[in-house]
Amino acid sequence: MPIQFDEKNQFFHLFNDNFSYVIGIEKNRYLTHRYWGKRLPFYAGSNALQRIDRGFATNPFPEERTFSLNELPLEMSTQGNGDHRIPNFQIRSNSGHDVTDFHYQSYSISHSKKPLPALPSLRQNQSEVTTLSIRLVDSQQNLALDMIYTLFEDLSILTRSTAFTNQGLAEVYLENAGSMSVDMANDQLDLLTLYGSHTNEANISRQALRPGIQKIESSRGTSSPQHQPFLALMDPFTTEFDGEVFAFHFIYSGNFIAQVEREQYGSTRVQMGINPDHFEWVLKPQATFYTPEVVLNYSSSGINGMSQNFHTVYQQHLVNPVFKTKERPILLNTWEANYFDLSEKKLLDQAKQAAEVGIELFVVDDGWFVDRNAADSSLGDWQADLKKLPNGLKTLSKNVHNLGMQFGLWFEPEMVSRKSQLFQQHPDWALQVPSYPMTEGRQQLVLDLSRTDVQDYLIDTLSKQIQENAIDYIKWDMNRHLTEVGSLAFSAKQQKEIGHRYVLGLYHILEVLTTKFPNCLFENCSSGGGRFDPGMMYYMPQTWTSDNSDALCRSLIQYGYSYLYPPIMMGAHVSTVPNHQVGRFTPLDTRAWLAMSGNLGYELDLQTLSSQETEAIAKQISFYKKYRQLFQFAKFYRLQAPNQLFQSAWLFINEQEAMVICFNGLAQAAHPIQHLKLHYFQDDALYEEQSTQQRFSGVELNQAGILITRIKEDFHTFVFHYKKVGSC
Ligand code: GLA
Repeated sequence: MPIQFDEKNQFFHLFNDNFSYVIGIEKNRYLTHRYWGKRLPFYAGSNALQRIDRGFATNPFPEERTFSLNELPLEMSTQGNGDHRIPNFQIRSNSGHDVTDFHYQSYSISHSKKPLPALPSLRQNQSEVTTLSIRLVDSQQNLALDMIYTLFEDLSILTRSTAFTNQGLAEVYLENAGSMSVDMANDQLDLLTLYGSHTNEANISRQALRPGIQKIESSRGTSSPQHQPFLALMDPFTTEFDGEVFAFHFIYSGNFIAQVEREQYGSTRVQMGINPDHFEWVLKPQATFYTPEVVLNYSSSGINGMSQNFHTVYQQHLVNPVFKTKERPILLNTWEANYFDLSEKKLLDQAKQAAEVGIELFVVDDGWFVDRNAADSSLGDWQADLKKLPNGLKTLSKNVHNLGMQFGLWFEPEMVSRKSQLFQQHPDWALQVPSYPMTEGRQQLVLDLSRTDVQDYLIDTLSKQIQENAIDYIKWDMNRHLTEVGSLAFSAKQQKEIGHRYVLGLYHILEVLTTKFPNCLFENCSSGGGRFDPGMMYYMPQTWTSDNSDALCRSLIQYGYSYLYPPIMMGAHVSTVPNHQVGRFTPLDTRAWLAMSGNLGYELDLQTLSSQETEAIAKQISFYKKYRQLFQFAKFYRLQAPNQLFQSAWLFINEQEAMVICFNGLAQAAHPIQHLKLHYFQDDALYEEQSTQQRFSGVELNQAGILITRIKEDFHTFVFHYKKVGSC
């Protein structure tokens, strides 16, 4: 049994083959954090709690001056009674007070994982899970707080969330409803986060923790490209290959906070949840508020180990099960070839050429709907522009299908343009605060997804489009952040609920659509990776990774995102040169290797290419089709982090073969001696490199590495392809 309760010592021990996590009950009241790390056979409490009578400490039991919430390593913060570290929750009573006193009441263990109501969460669909639910109660106000833990038995993964229930007679107000907090007994740690901007997503930040609070957050209404809802703490000596990592990733697509407090006596509190700055929830009598789920990931094999855990659990337990093992089609997206300038003839010519080189999915991007000739109009009016497509979408889709390809279409469903019929008819459907201007972004407004009439409209409109036009793939875009987050459909005291209600509305729409059309492939996009988060990935198994399609920039962006997401989730396209975002020329081969390192697609006008280039693309596509299983479903490991010359390397490896991709960045005259260690080959297996037919033992490739030679060319990519041919 992987969750044990030690009655005598009052410890919960959650464990599997990979790790142990121990929670204590102190004084029959407070939940303490006792251990998280390498698997223990049993926990006996060797790391006993520190008990010192300290200055400024307050004491719940006045006679016991060495017991204080001021430094107790807690599994759940307390409110207003002596725990002065960052809180996980804050509840205002009906009489305006800001204090609660939750005490341990009971626990239950079950061998299942209930989906969180109205929220995406990890699915229980393959390995066994065990769930521990611990109930705390505040008897003054009759409130319950449930701490919910699910242990995935064969993974190094634990999930946490919290539920707040009002069992009293009066309304209370959740000013802060965090998903989890934990106090770790160490403060000599590095903090790892991913930050960025539009066209520059997933930069890596690794800093030593300093005293005080360090946080990342979003108040933009979406998870955002500015900060991924993720943080990890690790030993300063941890590398890609070795060392312990404690990671936290939030399954949520709206405003979030992820924070760490290095406190006064050598411990570190981690807290994660909905951003309380723009939030309040009216908790009516008998109502429960469920917080989104946090994925806790323990690795004892470095940052690559952390990534493996995330990749596995997301592909196995997060994405729509239909796409768990389904190969993804190679697509051609029309955006960079056409922008808004479309016609049926142009699209058909492009489709024909795409089919000839072996493309499997033809995606018509923005510009196909009524009067959409620039970014300033028509969002909301999801009907084909008959001036551009005189025979309508149905005919276009049929023609694309007749060419042997799937048909895909771009939508930005959450938006409305002022210049649109939808806005004329329903000005109240946009997010707004009466008498204040509605701020535009990309000349568009945001629909109020907290409203059920808006949700129903979007479900109906998209359902009709998918059905009538036999759409196989939808690119679901979202190109601005939220402002004036208010709704005309809710009361004054519920206005601070709207940010979260928006996300719940979005999830509802996606739940209905993906259930109705389980085989339609949804690609998540928010000006690229602007809403690349596990909440969206629950519904949409892939994301357009970045609007920046330059190969060099992509080598950095995809490197960063691979900390959390497997390559199969990252849309990556070969685009034209000079690149539209940065003007850089990179070789066609390199663009393809970078795109194959994600989910391969093309985004250029094939008709403008030379016959040699078209031939090269056809070859790339047939190569990828041959090795698609490896690229999309093998294990992915980073071998070399980008250096100052932008050189980086990574590896795809399964039981039979391996592909090492080394992006060489800028050529250098004084090329250093460089042997790239492959780390993850099977030590006792024999491998043959496919272009030279040379054979090596796995252990030699792992330990001695392979030579990276000098090349007098910028942005070259070295590729080494090994097949396992026996053992040694
Ligand atoms: C966003 C997307 C692009 C493209 C445009 C269309 O920027 O990220 O890929 O779809 O919108 O307007």
